[in-house]
Amino acid sequence: MIASNKRKILVTSALPYANGPIHLGHLVEYIQTDIWVRYQKMCGNETYYFCADDTHGTPIMLTAKKLNLTPEALIEKIYEEHLKDFSLFEIKFDNYYSTNSKENQYFSETFYKKAKEKGYIYKKKVKQLFCPHDKMFLPDRYVKGICPKCGAKDQYGDCCEKCGASYRPIDLIEPKCAICGTIPIEKEEDHIFFKLSAFSSWLEEWLETHTDESIKNKMLEWIQAGLKDWDISRDGPYFGFRIPDEENKYFYVWLDAPIGYISSSYHYFKKHNLENRFDEFWSKDKEKKTEVYHFIGKDIIYFHTLFWPAILNTADFRTPNKVFVHGFLTINGEKMSKSRGTFIKAQSYLKHLDPQALRYYFASRLSNSIDDIDLNFDDFIFKYNSDIVGNIANIFSRCAKLLETLNNQLSKNVNQEGLSLIESILSKKKVILQQYEERNYHKVTKMIIELGSEINKYISEKEPWNQIKTNIEEARQILTNALNAGWLLSIYLKPILPSFCKGVETFLNVPFEYPKDFGLLSQNIQTQKFLPENHKINPYKHLASRITKEMVENMFKEEQKEILETSKLESNQKYITIEDFSKIELKVGMIIDAREVEGSDKLLNLILDVGEEKPRNVFAGIKKSYNPQELIGKKVIAVTNLQPRKMKFGISEAMILATGKENNLSLITVEKDVNAGSIVK
Ligand code: MSP
Ligand code: ZN
Repeated sequence: MIASNKRKILVTSALPYANGPIHLGHLVEYIQTDIWVRYQKMCGNETYYFCADDTHGTPIMLTAKKLNLTPEALIEKIYEEHLKDFSLFEIKFDNYYSTNSKENQYFSETFYKKAKEKGYIYKKKVKQLFCPHDKMFLPDRYVKGICPKCGAKDQYGDCCEKCGASYRPIDLIEPKCAICGTIPIEKEEDHIFFKLSAFSSWLEEWLETHTDESIKNKMLEWIQAGLKDWDISRDGPYFGFRIPDEENKYFYVWLDAPIGYISSSYHYFKKHNLENRFDEFWSKDKEKKTEVYHFIGKDIIYFHTLFWPAILNTADFRTPNKVFVHGFLTINGEKMSKSRGTFIKAQSYLKHLDPQALRYYFASRLSNSIDDIDLNFDDFIFKYNSDIVGNIANIFSRCAKLLETLNNQLSKNVNQEGLSLIESILSKKKVILQQYEERNYHKVTKMIIELGSEINKYISEKEPWNQIKTNIEEARQILTNALNAGWLLSIYLKPILPSFCKGVETFLNVPFEYPKDFGLLSQNIQTQKFLPENHKINPYKHLASRITKEMVENMFKEEQKEILETSKLESNQKYITIEDFSKIELKVGMIIDAREVEGSDKLLNLILDVGEEKPRNVFAGIKKSYNPQELIGKKVIAVTNLQPRKMKFGISEAMILATGKENNLSLITVEKDVNAGSIVK
């Protein structure tokens, strides 16, 4: 390809949240994007693939709290995990960054200031639910209560799962904090709004050329219903960036998240001394020189096709050429579900199955439509085994076995038979590349497999295993034809199965000076390059293994086992409500007498004054840690409404609190002078 034809392309995938692991649903998107980027690079286009972890917001703050980590420690840990998963699935970013970066803070502030200067920012009072126990404002999903429309219990603060009604959290009847169960209070605070409504007609026009038909229509409906201004602030405590010149206000996570695309690219270009590229990709007046594309799932369309272009436009940045939207992954025909164990984590998959099988299967199902894509595991096993193991890899493995007996040496040239086989491969170049460009990977894989079948058919018809017995050179010629054809065919597959194709190149000992991109495939057989004359190839190493049903079952078992364990763990750690806690009556008790209990080496008998007329009789298991004498006069904490317990030695009428090991207990005592019977709270 000549240099002037080179396009300059910047590609992004949506930034995964840093509060959990990568699962197979995510991978639809990252694999889809990665294939497109590899395809562009193989066309010789200057292409960059940028992404980052999306690190801010309430869920991340609360996940960190639950794990007893700071949010910073959590996002650092998740960052490493995400990177590892991506690399194992051969998803190759040019830069993978974090939204919790100084660059992102800088750009978020800059965008905000620009919007403010232009008069698109204003304040408005917003009534919100606040949990007095957790001391925080509760977003939609953190409030539960009765649906105001149909009366269904236990519904979230944004919409009802029973009747589908959508409402505000403050509309819920009997709302409760979903974290701790406390009844939240209403609080009114100033929030900062971005005047999205001012962009209605500009967006209508923008959508015409920057999205596909179905998306455009959906978004136009929204616009015609009247765009609401966008609430871009959250009151602290919140994990995110502080809003300049404001008290205790933070940017809502969805403001700084897409700006992460920009900061990730800035970080990369700066590091590589390519600041002019940053300018060419992002400034409005240079947008004709370059292309920007976002790949996203259908759940986040409005953030990317309404808020985001409006924000970019306000800041005098260019908007993306296109937002590409894919559908959701379903597993065996059903929505992914945590409780059914079908939210399969990248890690669980990797323990049992080959990542290239998933890349191939997704490719074989992906198109440029927004329809959901199904991962049916029977079909997955069948397709991978027949297309990759039984067809493409088979070309190489069956030839390898025979050629091994011929010193691994090819013939001088590809002959006429070989040329016509290869011509048929080359004739598909234009349409295969076109389908890659349009993200119709299912059409790409179909054509590749058909060509693979042609090569296999050629081998079967020529029966080199019989030829080898009588005519060695004829056998060598057949294998030379088939391997050259197989090699050139594998180039089409490279964006989908990069390491598989690398394996092919290693096996065929493809000389280094050969270019590795689509330029290697000539439209014209006369100018096509082949493996060198009398080329010597390498011993064959396995390229792909059959998938069995058992492997898939083991993966599901693994996922289910883990769910069971975490749900056990979670139910053990379940929070109690403040009401639960207040059921326990705790009082200060003074030990007025203490003696040993005959026949027991654990218990002491205490007489405890808890401020009542009659002191309580208590048996406490502290004999190994205390002498009775040293106890008298001590003020301890007692649970005084525990049901009295009949023991072998008498009735115990309270329980005293202690900590430490059995042989070295320490009673919880009172630091200052308080009366026996004082309530502990
Ligand atoms: N953090 C936001 C995106 C911010 S972009 C500025 C987010 N994160 S996510 O982790 O929930 O999702 C990341 C991407 O994965 C999204 O594009 C989302 O649509 C996609 N998918 C998440 N689950 C999916 C499936 N089950 N199926 C297909 N794609 C899915 O949204
Ligand atoms: Zn709460």
